[in-house]
Amino acid sequence: MTRRITIFDTTLRDGEQSPGIALRPDEKAEIARQLERLGVDVIEAGFAVSSPGDFEGVKAVAAAVERPTVASLCRTRKEDIDAAAEALAGARRSRIHIFLATSPVHMEKKLRMEPEEVVEQARWSVGYARASVDQVEFSCEDATRSDPHFVARVCCEAVRAGATTINLPDTVGYCLPSEYAEFILEVRRLCPELGSVTLSVHCHNDLGLAVANTLAGLQAGATQAECTVNGIGERAGNAALEEVVMALEVRRSSFGLKTGVVTREIGAASRLVQQLTGYAVQPNKAIVGANAFAHEAGIHQDGMLKDAETYQIMDPAQLGLVMTLPLGKHSGRHAFARACAEAGIQLDGEALAKAFRRFKQLADSGKNVTLSDVFEEVVLA
Ligand code: KIV
Ligand code: ZN
Repeated sequence: MTRRITIFDTTLRDGEQSPGIALRPDEKAEIARQLERLGVDVIEAGFAVSSPGDFEGVKAVAAAVERPTVASLCRTRKEDIDAAAEALAGARRSRIHIFLATSPVHMEKKLRMEPEEVVEQARWSVGYARASVDQVEFSCEDATRSDPHFVARVCCEAVRAGATTINLPDTVGYCLPSEYAEFILEVRRLCPELGSVTLSVHCHNDLGLAVANTLAGLQAGATQAECTVNGIGERAGNAALEEVVMALEVRRSSFGLKTGVVTREIGAASRLVQQLTGYAVQPNKAIVGANAFAHEAGIHQDGMLKDAETYQIMDPAQLGLVMTLPLGKHSGRHAFARACAEAGIQLDGEALAKAFRRFKQLADSGKNVTLSDVFEEVVLA
């Protein structure tokens, strides 16, 4: 049986926490509309109390979308929850997302709170938020560096106070996938109440493991994945939505999990987020990088021209992307002839051999070769 998981997109909140990104309310609304087309279930629009601009950003997203739930982040403070509730008032479906740290280092050094105070704050804030909205998510910040018994206790209190989603983040990207899965299983065991709510995973990429940890958490029974388009986010970023979704899609029989994401909208979502945030993805980024479906080596190009399954595990057209056979030092005669034909240059026999030799000479010199470089000389010769 395939279990449907919830995709909680936090591009507009954790993603926007990337240094240098500041989205205007109209830009947040534009991204939110694309996220709706993409089919995400929840859009975390911002942290309403953090600035007047973010308050307006949450409001703009709440007004822009119809189907997805719109969320705003809050600390366990009345003013945060009131601001979030006000900014979300225009949303069809809204969620207040409250976080409070549970790890010794955060409680002692940052919050300067005793564990009992943390339990009490969690209980109080969830109860207070529940009076304003139907959906309340509670996150145990830095959960993975916390005592699982304490995390379970906080979770149980939050569920009893009315939380509808509990999130167990790997806030500092410290966990290994096997450890994260064990942690999730242990907290589920210690707090059976989690069986009656959505259980969420939220992973950061400090060790490059955010996607692997997210998938491990889902395999351990989590029912919601928090991620961002292109993996943008605090420090090294969050789990990339497109990678999580496509891993679940391509390996569906291994995971037995599915999402509501419309995969053909992935390319457009990635491009829009790059354009409005100014954060370009690296060429070799999985799924959405410029090279993710580019085949340069001659043997690969030959294989691809015979059957795309030789070197591709996904069809780029299903992601709103295209396969390319860029011409370079390692390219072969087949791809070269194809590129010529596509440019309206029909060559065979000695003419093709001559042009191909010239192409290889130019490519060997380290230049980025175009067909006009090759034919300028061949035609003139
Ligand atoms: O990484 C984190 O712990 C967070 C929480 C606010 C959910 O972003
Ligand atoms: Zn985070």
